[in-house]
Order: sequence, then C-alpha cells, then structure tokens
Amino acid sequence: MCGIVGYIGPKSAESVLISGLKRLEYRGYDSAGISVISKDNKLETRKKAGKVSVLVQELADLPIAPAHIGIGHTRWATHGAPTDRNAHPHIGGSHHRLSLIHNGIIENFASLKKELSAAGTVFTSETDSEVVAHLVAIEYDKLQDLKQAFMVVVRRLEGAFTLLCIHQDHPDVVFAARRNSPLVIGLGQAENFLGSDVAAFIEYTKHAVAVGQDQIVELRSGSFQISDFEGNPVEAEEFEVSWDASAASKGGWPSFMAKEIADQPQAVGDTLMGRISSDGSVNLAEMADLAKLSEANRIVFVACGTAAYAAEAAKYAIEKWAKIPVSVELAHEFRYRDPVIDDKTLVIAMSQSGETMDTLMAVRHALSEGAKVLAVCNTQGATLAREAHATIYTHAGPEVAVASTKAFTAQVTAGQLIGLVLAWQRESLPIVELKKIGLELLTLPRKIKEVLDTAASMGELAKGFADAKSVLFLGRNIAYPIALEGALKLKELAYIHAEGFAAGELKHGPIALVENGQPVIVIVPSRLGEGSLHAKVVSNIQEIKARGARVIAIAEAGDSETGDYADEIFFIPETMPLLAGQLSVIPLQIFAMELSNAKGLDVDQPRNLAKSVTVE
Ligand code: M6R
Repeated sequence: MCGIVGYIGPKSAESVLISGLKRLEYRGYDSAGISVISKDNKLETRKKAGKVSVLVQELADLPIAPAHIGIGHTRWATHGAPTDRNAHPHIGGSHHRLSLIHNGIIENFASLKKELSAAGTVFTSETDSEVVAHLVAIEYDKLQDLKQAFMVVVRRLEGAFTLLCIHQDHPDVVFAARRNSPLVIGLGQAENFLGSDVAAFIEYTKHAVAVGQDQIVELRSGSFQISDFEGNPVEAEEFEVSWDASAASKGGWPSFMAKEIADQPQAVGDTLMGRISSDGSVNLAEMADLAKLSEANRIVFVACGTAAYAAEAAKYAIEKWAKIPVSVELAHEFRYRDPVIDDKTLVIAMSQSGETMDTLMAVRHALSEGAKVLAVCNTQGATLAREAHATIYTHAGPEVAVASTKAFTAQVTAGQLIGLVLAWQRESLPIVELKKIGLELLTLPRKIKEVLDTAASMGELAKGFADAKSVLFLGRNIAYPIALEGALKLKELAYIHAEGFAAGELKHGPIALVENGQPVIVIVPSRLGEGSLHAKVVSNIQEIKARGARVIAIAEAGDSETGDYADEIFFIPETMPLLAGQLSVIPLQIFAMELSNAKGLDVDQPRNLAKSVTVE
C-alpha cells in the first residue's frame, strides 16, 4: 500500500519519478505527488488527489523545476481522505525546506502530533505522515545534521514505515528508513534509485540491494550506505533482478489484466522450469535449505486473498500425494488466536508480493514458536523471502494488475511441486506414480494455452451479465477453491456480489439464494476424479436448474453429460483431476475481466484496492 520512489543522478528527476510512480501505481491510486530540489537548491512539490495521470496533468499545467534529485509517492489512503492536502510528499518545518513521503502507519502519531501542536506546529493535513516530516525538520534545526535528525526521529516511531526524505540544504542526498514496510535500492552508473519494489526502477537498472528491517539508507548519486537505527554500518545484500522492463509493460494489450491472463502458459512454464526433469522426477533445490523437512508432521499455509485460495488448491494435491495433513489459515486470523504450532510444523507462507503485512506477522509468530517457514513468493528482494528459512520463487514475472491472475496459477503450481517433493522424500507414492504426475504438470502450459485459445466465447458470454446483481460459483474438491477465486475475481473486477460455495454445501443453506434467472457458474469435476463427484455435481446442476438457475458449466473435454443440463458450457482440456484448477480458473478470470470491461470499469485498478496490503 502506497508506492514510493526516490532518485538521484544525472537524469531528469521528474521523468524518473513519474515513470516509477506509473509502475508502482498498483500499490495505491488515491493521490500522487513528487518533490524535487532544483539546481538552484529550491524544494518544489506538486501533488494531486487521483491517479498519477492527474499529477502528470498538474505538472503540465504547472511545470516543476528541472532537477536531479527527488522523491515520489502514490497513495492508498489510511489516515485522512484522498485529497490534495493529504497527498504526499509532506513538507516539514516552518521554513518549508524538507520533504518526506511515507508508506505504512505511524501508530503513535497521535501522541507525537499532540506534542508538536503544543509546541506550535501547524498541520496542513490529517495524515500520520506529516507528523514525521515536522519532527525531522525540527530535529534538523536543532542538530544541523540531517542524518542524525532522521535517526533520532525514526527511533521514536512505532508501527510500519518506509520513509524517504530530502532537504534543500542537502541537494546531494536522499535519506530513507524502513520498518515493516518494503524498500529496495536500485544501483545505476553514477545514479541511484529507491523504490517500494524493483518495478520502480526496472527500466533503468537490474542491479538491486534489499534493505533490511530497521535500517537507514543514505543515498547519493555515486554511493550508498546502509546502517541500523543507531548508525552502525550494515552489510548490503545485492541481487540481480530477473524481470525485465518489457515484462512490466502492457506490450500492446488493452490492459495489464488481459496481458497477465495471457501470460499464464509462460508463468506456469517458468515456475516448472528446471524443477521437473524430462522423465518426470522433481527437484526443488530450495527445499534442501529446510533441514529435516521430512520430519514435519503437518503443514500450515498462511496467506490472504487469492494466495490463500491457491494454497487451498495446493492442499488437495499435497495431502493426496505426500500423505501429510495440511491446513490453510488466513494469515490475519492465524496470528491472533494462539495457533498450536511447534518445530514439527512446516509453515508455508504464500504471497505474490512477499510484503503482505498480515502474512509477514503470521510468519514472525510462527518463527517465534519454532516452526520451519518456507516462503512461496513472486518478488525478489521481498521481506517474506528474507525472513523465511527458505523460499521457492514462482516465476510469474511482474504482476501489475491489482487483481491477481498469473500469480495464482503459478502459486498453485508451486504448491503442487512442494507436494511432489514431499511425496518423493516421504516415499508416500510409488515413483512411477510420482513421475507420471511430474510429466502431467509439464503439459499444463500447453493446456492453459489451449484454454486461452478458445476463451473468447467466455468473454462474449460475460457481456450478457453486465446487469447481474449476484453470481454464485459452485465447485467441489479441487474446484472448490477455484469457485472461491472465481467469485473473488468477479467482486474485485466487476463489483458484482459473488459467492463461491462447496457444491456439497448447497443443500445446507445456499440453495435458498437460487431463484428464477440466478446465474450460477459450476465447475464440474473430472469424470476420472474422486468417487462419484462428477455425478453428484451434475445432480447439483439439476437441483438448481429446477429452481430457475441459469447455469454456466466449466467441464472437461469429452464430458457429454453436463451439457444436457447446463445452459452454457465451456470445455477445458483433460488432465489429472488434481491439476485441473490451473485450467478451470482461466475462463473465470476472463468472465470477470470481460464483465468489468462491459461495465466500463478500470480492470487494472479496481476501486478501493491496493495490490500489496502492507498494513494490518
Ligand atoms: O501479495 P499477496 O499474494 O500476499 O497478496 C494477497 C492478497 O492481498 C491478494 O491476493 C488479493 O486478494 C488480490 N486482490 C487478489 O486479486
């Protein structure tokens, strides 16, 4: 939540900051702003409520001075409405020489604000962040040392923050600090960058440094220094970013969402690459870092939103193949209810961003209880990867659209790989079976492509539902989490009430919702799946049809029965039943996207959302 970018170097600060903000806009789009220090050492700021495009217009109407140092912010509002006044940067002190941006929440801001007000500080915004700007400015006036002033203040702050600060008396340095919010440094030739994540500067450099918890950065054009909050030097952890800039651009697609849905054969293929050999055997070298993994007697996934549904989908495969109990916990519920975990528990934290605060807090709690923690993460340099014992990266590439699509299919795939590795380690299935699963996983990118090639019909169908008030999703077994994910996509993208149900639960209550014309999307299990689930779900279709439902079925190619009862049917290729989730979710993503388009909504940046939820 909130994107921050900083720059110092020979380029135009304005253009670097604006391009960084555009790439970070998925983190929040309530307001945007930049501050620069001009060549004649004047601090200038422009900020506006609304998206980055509104700020760009403001800069065209009221140009900012040419400059080579600056900071920029795109906001997801917490304290104070999304107005011009509450937009960042915030100017500190009565001389208006210091500018500061903030991502996070300052939990003790009320007492700090009271103290400042009593001493005569006048506030221009309702934000917690402005308090920090004034504190640093006041401290600087006392100490005449910006680094010392910054350090004194960050030591007083409670909560979560990434802070970037510039001062017109020091036009050659940007100071930054982080606690519980993300920050990475980008290293260029005689220029350096700061960003909430690498997307902020991927256009200019792939050479990056992860900034750790409770650390301060002093960034100059030709150097950087990292220290702790006491000023003690800290060694930098450098890494190369594997994404390239084109992966984070629309590349001719009408939206990031359309591009990212189409990227899924590659996202899943790249996640499998090098991890399954041509004979079907699996190797996840990263799991070797987890000593005594095979001694774990249960797995607990912690995740939120789409990532939690991906974990649910992976659970079915892991339990079936590795014969180990798996539970999936919403990270925010897990953390605050004294969960029973110990050193025999493998906690797997699933997170695209690796910055979701709820998930990080759950991980920290699990670590404190002695659990082994494995991260499944899509973003290099993320806090989650730094804090877990080991990390399996999904190689989905940058996901820019706020609603998750390709990260989901990559996460499910990574979860299945974990299940397969555990099954090999625990010898819970014959090797020949395991190799068969490995080989079938390798067919998924091609099969996803087949789904995409035929998915236009789903898009056409979706357009007819623009006036729907509610859509229900039914699934069973592996298709249950897919139904939940389909419903979440529809809520997020098309603002239509949607609920996902386990089909078996239907008669225990939800069937009361079905009336004449109620749209219900049913994901029909494979005929090869568990017991008679296929027949049971086909019966469910008949039950809701009898009550007037309009049924759209997602069924496996060759299923000649379902079409007799459904109003519409969309076929996906045959695969092993436990691997079908990565195929059946695609038409649901397209349904939600096209419905959003039909309603004229912003499919990449749905209202009220931010991609990385970095506050609890
Ligand atoms: O970055 P994470 O995977 O930890 O994010 C988790 C959720 O916030 C995220 O999946 C959210 O539900 C998306 N809006 C889903 O489209």
